[in-house]
Amino acid sequence: MRYKGIILAGGNGTRLHPMTIAVSKQLIPVYDKPMIFYPLSVLMDAGIRQVLIITKPEEAYLFQRLLGDGSNWGISIEYAEQPKPAGIAQGLFIAEEFLAGAPSVLILGDNIFYGSNFTQKVCKAMTENIGAFILPYKVRDPSQYGVLELDVSGRIQNIVEKPKKPPSNLAVPGLYILDETAPKKAKELVPSGRGELEITDLLNIYLAEKKLKYCVLDRGTAWLDTGTTESLLEASMFVQAIEKRQGHKIACLEEISLNKNFQLISSLHPCAFAEW
Ligand code: TTP
Repeated sequence: MRYKGIILAGGNGTRLHPMTIAVSKQLIPVYDKPMIFYPLSVLMDAGIRQVLIITKPEEAYLFQRLLGDGSNWGISIEYAEQPKPAGIAQGLFIAEEFLAGAPSVLILGDNIFYGSNFTQKVCKAMTENIGAFILPYKVRDPSQYGVLELDVSGRIQNIVEKPKKPPSNLAVPGLYILDETAPKKAKELVPSGRGELEITDLLNIYLAEKKLKYCVLDRGTAWLDTGTTESLLEASMFVQAIEKRQGHKIACLEEISLNKNFQLISSLHPCAFAEW
């Protein structure tokens, strides 16, 4: 069955206050476009044409105003609400009806990826996935992320959420490739000490079933998160530098749609749309 995409665009964005008091974090600009264009472009690049965007209830209409039903780009965008930011894994059972038994690529609305072989890695992971697939990334300070603990032969032993003493430098970015059992597994989770349904706990369920695979993103890929004022500015400057130098846009939805023939496919084969 074809993969469907989920973008988590709720959250409180407290680290970006006061910018995110009146406007959702994922709608503020990263250089020349709203932040949510970046994760949406990752899903489209991976060939995904059915996307669910999960937002806070009071902000849903803003995302709808920006992105509509996705038909501008030959994709389908639906919306769902998360009453409170009760954890990333909660997004999966909010998405259960939308997924209707399909596997998913879940991406956080504030994560930016860029690199020449990044899309190939995502597509390969989607093909090879038999449970959950993650794309860890080496960072200098992983203590704010889920971090991989590996044995000497590189097998995952554990994923630890925001460890004070990280067992490795391999952080888990906000991009998760999940089979169709993810919503059911997410329902089994209990809230962590900070009251959230943790994606790390979900991944550890897959690990216990020996169904968690990974492939490290190499240094040719940039993974930026935009959760703090500093990282937001850095991300904007990164996008500006690349676009100015190369004369190409990063996360240009029109370009991706055109390259992938998304418009053509929907207009020629309306029935094939869901199958694509
Ligand atoms: P976080 O950065 O963990 O949280 P946040 O965005 O609320 O920011 P802050 O910590 O500054 O308060 O969230 C990462 C992404 O996941 C972000 O795009 C928001 C999204 N998210 C949800 O949509 N729902 C949730 O319950 C959580 C925890 C995060």
